[in-house]
Amino acid sequence: MATSKVIGVLTAGGDCPGLNAVIRGVVTRATEVHDAEVVGIMNGWEGLMGGHTRSLDRDDVRGILGRGGTILGTSRMDPYVHGSGYESCERTVQRNGIDALVVIGGDGTLRSALRLAEEGLPVVGVPKTIDNDINGTDVTFGFDTAVQIASDAIDRLASTAEAHNRVIVCEVMGRTKGWIAVYAGIAGGADAILIPERDYDLDEVAEIVRARHRRGKSYSIVVVAEGVTPPEGAVMEEKTDAFGFARLGGVGYAIAAGLEERTSFETRVSVLGHIQRGGTPTAFDRVLASRLGVAAADYAVAGETGVMVAVRGTQIVPVSMEEACAEVRGVDDALFDTAASFFG
Ligand code: F6P
Repeated sequence: MATSKVIGVLTAGGDCPGLNAVIRGVVTRATEVHDAEVVGIMNGWEGLMGGHTRSLDRDDVRGILGRGGTILGTSRMDPYVHGSGYESCERTVQRNGIDALVVIGGDGTLRSALRLAEEGLPVVGVPKTIDNDINGTDVTFGFDTAVQIASDAIDRLASTAEAHNRVIVCEVMGRTKGWIAVYAGIAGGADAILIPERDYDLDEVAEIVRARHRRGKSYSIVVVAEGVTPPEGAVMEEKTDAFGFARLGGVGYAIAAGLEERTSFETRVSVLGHIQRGGTPTAFDRVLASRLGVAAADYAVAGETGVMVAVRGTQIVPVSMEEACAEVRGVDDALFDTAASFFG
């Protein structure tokens, strides 16, 4: 009799609404449809290197679909930065008899997953990030939730800005790409949007605000992605997290100071931060994450490796992890130009 396959699953990098829905999809499909076993690996790569695992069955993933965070925990530890690559994961893989690994992560995590696949460990990737910047897929789960939260926040900021005749700079997440800023900015009617992909001139932004106020509006909302280059002369504190990765957040303050200086309009700042990543995923993200989890289980059980499950149009398809890792996907010019039509 054929022995059932053992699928390992881990979540690594920053958390993202929908992670639990993916885990539920993987576990349910693998156990109920493919009669496979699933081993959950705790705290991302850290658990794979340290042997921290738990078995997962259908009952373990009931009731988690709408829950934020990840029942497996996550970390920014990386086997190629903090360990010796595959060697540091081998013991856990062998001990648990893992035939294939489903890795749910962002671009850094997927790059390490690709290297493990090249070193012989069967790996299927699931793209994860609120930043929506993974190559090879039209969209990532978590993005819709983050955009909803950010655009709700912009609506709220606009009403208080209007009441007080203020400019408010709303800083959103987006480490190297400005997808959240552009989508939430369009949805919230932002008067200017600054993203890492585009150079900006603070004098021009100030003029957009001044011109708007000359036309009779007494408040403005400027949306800024956390990863934009700080204005010239701004002194930014350099911070790193526990794993040595740069910690962003706060550039909005320097931009607000520059705008206030140029316009003399009172300018306040709201840094949305982790609120964009926490809490329950939207229905769109729950459906997307469930579909990706199911597809990942199918490919893992089928023995596929080096592939990432991706969205192309309305379909979930496998794309090579090389393609996924080839670049970080930025906002295209047409989309930014659409957003810019509404500035001021
Ligand atoms: O990569 C996703 C992301 O949300 C980035 O936009 C942000 O810079 C980063 O995670 C922050 O994560 P953490 O605070 O967990 O390091």
